[in-house]
Amino acid sequence: FPSVIGRDLLTLKDFNSDEIKYFLWTAADLKERIKNNKETVRLLEGKSAALIFQKRSTRTRVSTETGLALLGGHSVYLTDSDFHLGVSESTTDTGRVLSGFCDLILARVYQQKDLEDMANSATIPVISGLSEMYHPIQILADLMTLQEHFGSLHGRTVAWVGDGNNIIHSFMMAAPKFGMHLNIATPQGYEPDSEVTQFTKGLAQENKTSVDLTNDPREACLSADVIVTDTWISMGQEEEKAARLKSFAGYQVDHELMSLAKKEAVFLHCLPRKPEEVTDEVFESEQSLVWQEAENRKWTVMAVMTCLMQDYNPIHPMPNF
Ligand code: CP
Ligand code: NVA
Repeated sequence: FPSVIGRDLLTLKDFNSDEIKYFLWTAADLKERIKNNKETVRLLEGKSAALIFQKRSTRTRVSTETGLALLGGHSVYLTDSDFHLGVSESTTDTGRVLSGFCDLILARVYQQKDLEDMANSATIPVISGLSEMYHPIQILADLMTLQEHFGSLHGRTVAWVGDGNNIIHSFMMAAPKFGMHLNIATPQGYEPDSEVTQFTKGLAQENKTSVDLTNDPREACLSADVIVTDTWISMGQEEEKAARLKSFAGYQVDHELMSLAKKEAVFLHCLPRKPEEVTDEVFESEQSLVWQEAENRKWTVMAVMTCLMQDYNPIHPMPNF
């Protein structure tokens, strides 16, 4: 396995396919050992993590806190209202100070640039817990879920229906590395970031996969293996709500869109979910893997924390990707 000790995980752009596979292999291994075999695995005994949240979170916070505790470590949850960052201390000073107390930082911020500043000043690994640009640890959980469900990832087609946001940006940085195809449907004006798109097209070429952008959800879903969506109004965009609801009309994932995909297609959503982007029928259907996806946030973040702090040698064979 490739060592990733000491690295920051600010975007999956920085990690090659072997490194991403190593995270996923470790996640599968920890899940097997701890959940299925009931082993006690105190890999991170004595380690501390600072969890910085400038935005709300259910999954990211709880999976990280409980995951680190399972591995024997300790976390400190910090928001703008209980420490100095963003009020009376700079990001870079905060990064240096936390490096003296902790072994790792996980931060959910408004600006990717703040994560970069934090990582540049900190001497310990920094993990993104979401920014306006990316949500890398979410996509690790999504890939793990698809691998568990289908038994492999190579050659699968992921259809994205919705906003060209942080979640699809992270898919774009990872999917071609697994030989996966991407069909991305967004309303006009809500396309993914153009630099991310350029970069992903290059990745797709290298890996002989496709990345297709369209304004037609039906076209994107045709023969897909996976349909994915997310809220139309991300955190921080609340004021755009009325305009966005209008722009995204016709983008709700419903039975009709699902029926254009392959018969065995599945549905993913990072959550939290609003009813406008997906019908109850699809969300609650057999095809929906959203609860497994949410649970896998825990195994994947545990894997990331472990691998950034030590060379972990998985016990079980590598899953088939
Ligand atoms: N999917 C996700 O990151 O959820 P939270 O906002 O609850 O952390
Ligand atoms: N796109 C959403 C994801 C939430 C996990 C947001 O940024 O709010």
